[in-house]
Amino acid sequence: MKILVIGGGGREHAIIRKLKENPQVTEIFALPGNGGISYDAQCLSGSATDLDAIVSYAKEKAVDFAVVAPDDPLVLGAADRLREAGFPTFGPSAAAAAIEGSKVFSKNLMKKYNIPTADYGVFEDPADAMEYIKQQGKYPVVVKADGLALGKGVIIAQSEAEAEDALKSIMEDKVFGASGNRVVVEEFLTGPEVTVLSFTDSKTLVPMVSSMDHKRALDGDEGLNTGGMGVIAPNPCYTPEIAEECMKTIFLPTIEAMKQEGRPFKGCLYFGLMLTPDGPRVIEYNCRFGDPETQAILPLLETDLLTVFQAVEEERLSEVPVTFRKGASCCLVLASGGYPQAYEKGLPITGLVNGNLDGVQVYHAGTKRADDQILTNGGRVLGVTALADTLEEAIAKAYAAAENIHFDKMHFRKDIGQKALALTAGK
Ligand code: AMP
Ligand code: GLY
Repeated sequence: MKILVIGGGGREHAIIRKLKENPQVTEIFALPGNGGISYDAQCLSGSATDLDAIVSYAKEKAVDFAVVAPDDPLVLGAADRLREAGFPTFGPSAAAAAIEGSKVFSKNLMKKYNIPTADYGVFEDPADAMEYIKQQGKYPVVVKADGLALGKGVIIAQSEAEAEDALKSIMEDKVFGASGNRVVVEEFLTGPEVTVLSFTDSKTLVPMVSSMDHKRALDGDEGLNTGGMGVIAPNPCYTPEIAEECMKTIFLPTIEAMKQEGRPFKGCLYFGLMLTPDGPRVIEYNCRFGDPETQAILPLLETDLLTVFQAVEEERLSEVPVTFRKGASCCLVLASGGYPQAYEKGLPITGLVNGNLDGVQVYHAGTKRADDQILTNGGRVLGVTALADTLEEAIAKAYAAAENIHFDKMHFRKDIGQKALALTAGK
């Protein structure tokens, strides 16, 4: 089997490593991949959003299966183009990817199908949005750009003045471009956050192990929002009772709603949940694997990943038992100093052997390879994942491994998993 994987971050590296465990997989191509991925796959030059290039590479390399991992090519229709060209593909159609591509679409979907989420209004005019915010008179209030915004399109405004600033930057200054043509103004919810990734073929939905991301740049959840600085799995807040409730009130209703709308979702559906005092609520959907959640979760998967991907594509997921190993995992992100703002690139990374370390998985997110030297090439550089029987051990193992790795101005949070440990201790 020859497989083409679209994308080039830590998530894609984790997917590729897992696919490689299947002895039938003979060759993996990554578009564009990265320095670390180049030890596990053949990296192809080009962009993950160039749909023509994606289809021509699939043809040229005569691949048997394709995986589209990032949001932007999915929203642009990469999976549709691949399927039209005859390649079985893991990833939703553009119509289904709208669940992430448009927050207006996803909020309206939840409202129509009674899926629990924060109250909201949709606005095309900043003055109307401001009027609504003043009428509600409740702060903080959440302002979200409608479209994709590299995970940065959400502003939590603490006051009327901050809400005005948020609307101005999104809708007038267009800091996220056309993604800010419309906004969702949303009620501010409170409670622990849980990520649940799921496999779904549009009929059956199989949740993966739950997880907890750490989105802020600095310890104690301080500093700017990032793509994610570390993940632990499973998330101790997500009890079997809550899981059952989410399945009934959120997960199954969502895939049913998408079917009703003529947009059956096939792929990995990501539920960003908040466990509020009034019950679980959807904060966001993503149409893809999370990054860095995937780096913590896929190593726990016991079932062959390609088998699951093929079952999803062929709509027979109900026939495949999907199992995860017991125990816990911790993925620690090593970032460039300055991230998520300006940072240097091209700094040599030491301590890795052929891009890896013994006893743990080192996933490359932003690296490039010059001969056998690995250089930094992005904000999030590496993800170090350790598995263990307990969460405490997994955290200790990930941090111990990270001590071997160095690059100038390397930054990582020192408290990944501490909140989860405190919760576990309280039980
Ligand atoms: P999103 O990009 O939609 O995941 O939002 C980024 C972060 O903003 C989430 O992980 C939450 O921490 C926060 N957030 C989004 N919506 C709300 C809300 N309605 N209430 C409270 N926090 C929110
Ligand atoms: N880690 C958050 C995301 O993938 O959207």
